[in-house]
Amino acid sequence: MKILIVGGGGREHAIAWKAAQSAKVEKIYCAPGNAGIEEYAQCVDIGVMEFDRLAAFAKEKEIDLAVIGMDDPLVGGIVDVFEAEGIRVFGPRKNAAILEGSKAFSKDLMKKYGIPTAAYENFDDPDKALAYLEHASFPIVLKADGLALGKGVLICNTLEEARDGVKSIMLDRKFGTAGSRMVIEEFMTGREVSVLSFVDGKTIRTMTSAQDHKRALDGDQGLNTGGMGTFSPSPFYTEEVDAFCQKHIYQKTVDAMAAEGRPFKGVIFFGLMLTEKGPRVLEYNARFGDPEAQVVLPRMKNDIVDVFEACIDGTLDRLELQFEDNAAVCVVLASAGYPVSYEKGFEIRGLEAFREKEGYYVFHAASRRKDGRLVTNGGRVLGVTATGADLREARANAYEAVKLVDFDNKYCRSDIGKAIDEAG
Ligand code: AMP
Ligand code: GLY
Repeated sequence: MKILIVGGGGREHAIAWKAAQSAKVEKIYCAPGNAGIEEYAQCVDIGVMEFDRLAAFAKEKEIDLAVIGMDDPLVGGIVDVFEAEGIRVFGPRKNAAILEGSKAFSKDLMKKYGIPTAAYENFDDPDKALAYLEHASFPIVLKADGLALGKGVLICNTLEEARDGVKSIMLDRKFGTAGSRMVIEEFMTGREVSVLSFVDGKTIRTMTSAQDHKRALDGDQGLNTGGMGTFSPSPFYTEEVDAFCQKHIYQKTVDAMAAEGRPFKGVIFFGLMLTEKGPRVLEYNARFGDPEAQVVLPRMKNDIVDVFEACIDGTLDRLELQFEDNAAVCVVLASAGYPVSYEKGFEIRGLEAFREKEGYYVFHAASRRKDGRLVTNGGRVLGVTATGADLREARANAYEAVKLVDFDNKYCRSDIGKAIDEAG
C-alpha cells in the first residue's frame, strides 16, 4: 500500500514510524513532513491547507490510504475533498470534525445528550457575555469557539480579568475569527487525562490513557503551549474511572454524533478532568494528541493500518486494540522562549546515539536539513520518548536520553511525569 500522511509534527512522525512497521505498507509520503519523518517517508512540499494540490498528488501517486494528522485541515474539510476525488482517507468529515472545530457545538452536544461536562453558556454578543459575568462566580473559564492553537482558553480569577478576556476574545479578536463566538464555563479542578480512541461511525475502541503537560515551565507555571511532555498510562485513570467513562462518555459521544447526522470516523481525543464529582469532558479533539501520540503509539501492538482501515470500513467491532504492559514518557525539547519568541536554525547534535537503541525514540516536531546538517525549525523541536517496565523507569530513561541530544537554546521541563510520584 501507498500511504500519504498530512502534517509535519511529532504526532505525524509517530504515525509514520508506526505505519512503517506494517507489512502492508510499501511506500509512505508525508506532506509537508520534516527532517525526522524523512527516515520513513518521502516528504512533499505541499501545505496542509492546499486540499486540491494534496488530492491531485494523492491521485498522481495512486495513494491507497491518506491519514490526516492535524486539526486545521480536518476542520476545514479535507476529508470531504479527498472523498469527492475517490481517495480513501482516515479522519472525520467536516461535519464531524466540528466536534473539535466549535466548542459551542461540542458543549451543546454534551448538554443535549447528557454527557458530563462543566456548566456553561454560549455567547455571540459581547454585551450579553459581559452582562452574564456580573452574576457569575470566580474563577471562571472563557473559551474562544474556534481553533486557536490550544491558546483560546482563559481562566479568569476576577470580574475585571473576565471583562478583559471577553474584550480580547470577542472585540479585539486576539484569536482571530475563532472568537466570533465564545463559551463561558464553570471552573473545575482535578487531574487531567487524555484518552484517545478510534471510531468507525458506530463503534469506539479506546486506547491506553496519557497525560499531557500544557504549561511551558516546571510546576505547571508559565504560558499554555502545545504540550511539553506526556506519559502513558495515567495512574489516575483507574478501572473505575474507565468504567464510568465507557458508560457515560465514550459511546454516548459516538452515538450522539451519529444521531445528529454527523457520523464520526477517525480519532476522538477526550480531554477529561477527574473532578470530585466524577470525570467530566474538558474538550474533544478530532485527531491524535501531540505529544500524546508519541507515548501511546509506541505502546500499541496492533498494526495501525489495520485499525485505520477498520475505521473507514465500519468494521472496528471485529478488532480489539492491544497495548504493551509497559509505560512511556515523552519529554519535549523546545527552543528557549517558546511559546512566545524563539530562534530557529540551530544545529541538532547527538541523534546517532539513538540508532538501534530499543525502547528509545526521537520524534521530530520541527526540524529541517540545511546544507546537509540537521537544524531546529520551530518552537517545539523534538519529543524524546523512552519506554520502561513502569512509569518511573520510563521517566528515568527519557531524562537520560534527553542528555544525549543537544542544540543551542535547548529547553525542556524537568518535571514531566512528576505526578507519577503522587500516585504512590
Ligand atoms: P481546552 O483547550 O478546552 O482543553 O482547555 C485548555 C486547558 O484549559 C485545559 O487543558 C485545562 O487545563 C484548562 N481548562 C479548560 N476548561 C476548564 C475548566 N472548565 N475548568 C478548569 N480548567 C479548564
Ligand atoms: N496535547 C494536546 C493536544 O494535542 O491538543
